[in-house]
Amino acid sequence: MDQVNRTIPDMDRILQGRRMRRVRKFEWTRRMCRETTLTPDDFIWPIFLTEGQGVQEPVESMPGVVRYSVDEAVGAAQMAADLGIPVIAVFPYSGPEKRDDWGSEADNPDNLVCQACRAICKAVPGIGIMTDVALDPYTDHGHDGLLSGDDILNDETIARLISQSLNQARAGSHIVGPSDMMDGRIGAIRQALDGAGHDDVIIMAYAAKYASAFYGPFRDAVGASGALKGDKRTYQMSPANGLEALREVELDINEGADMVMVKPGIAYLDVVHRAKDAFGMPTFAYQVSGEYSMIEAAAAQGWIDGEKVMMESLQAFKRAGADGILTYHAVRAATRLNAG
Ligand code: PBG
Repeated sequence: MDQVNRTIPDMDRILQGRRMRRVRKFEWTRRMCRETTLTPDDFIWPIFLTEGQGVQEPVESMPGVVRYSVDEAVGAAQMAADLGIPVIAVFPYSGPEKRDDWGSEADNPDNLVCQACRAICKAVPGIGIMTDVALDPYTDHGHDGLLSGDDILNDETIARLISQSLNQARAGSHIVGPSDMMDGRIGAIRQALDGAGHDDVIIMAYAAKYASAFYGPFRDAVGASGALKGDKRTYQMSPANGLEALREVELDINEGADMVMVKPGIAYLDVVHRAKDAFGMPTFAYQVSGEYSMIEAAAAQGWIDGEKVMMESLQAFKRAGADGILTYHAVRAATRLNAG
């Protein structure tokens, strides 16, 4: 110490006793000064569904992620519930035979999503089920809405989303998550749900959803990559915009959203922070497929410590103000957190 003070004669004056490192010295001081915590309560686990029985089929572009047949999805939901994860979100894989220009499969009361809702509700009553409202798993052009020429039709699409939401609510979905970015869909879906006696079904609005290249592996997982014609820039937001995200979030809140979401995650933490700050709503972030796969790919090469990067990324969402995170790492992170 004396040595240092002699080397830099002004150190005492510069520091004036202010030493930030004092509280970082011991594990217990670090613990008592931490501002945010991460627990399994913070996770929503997205899983993929596929036809069949006893199937767990790897998704090539997402190492460690599988598509579950409905019976296996029940086991996955049980595992998530046992870990303390509050919600599981289900996304169906559909091949070309399940796709048409109308997204008809969205109305099938026996589609994979509805089957999973019924089976999971019955077998795992302790977990919440979230379902995705958008036509892209079921359209032959891979868009979230109805296509006419080059246009995605707004109001006509909303009529389809209403019918999809009601179908999911009847099957037992607790949270519907409109991810389509049509204008006015939250209000329209709320009104339709209430009119049909589903006033307890929660709406988590994908309020600020960006036209992002980070969704690549997901489209592969749900069978949409080959199908998608063009891109989604006429309905999803430009990555250049932040204020517009606040207007989107505000509209969805005014139309009756119970919870709002920002998507993708890590590259959009400023938006999460601003949305939480501005509205104080339950605010969620979706750490999407591309983010997951980037971590896994670098970890597989030995270039990063995958476990540590996983935990650090998830912690960052909490610091930014998110109440929770949709993450494909939910089970691994919860397992780790429960181990202490
Ligand atoms: C589609 C939907 C997408 C995701 C969730 N719902 C993809 C898209 O908008 O093209 C992406 C999730 C992920 O990448 O993990 N309505």
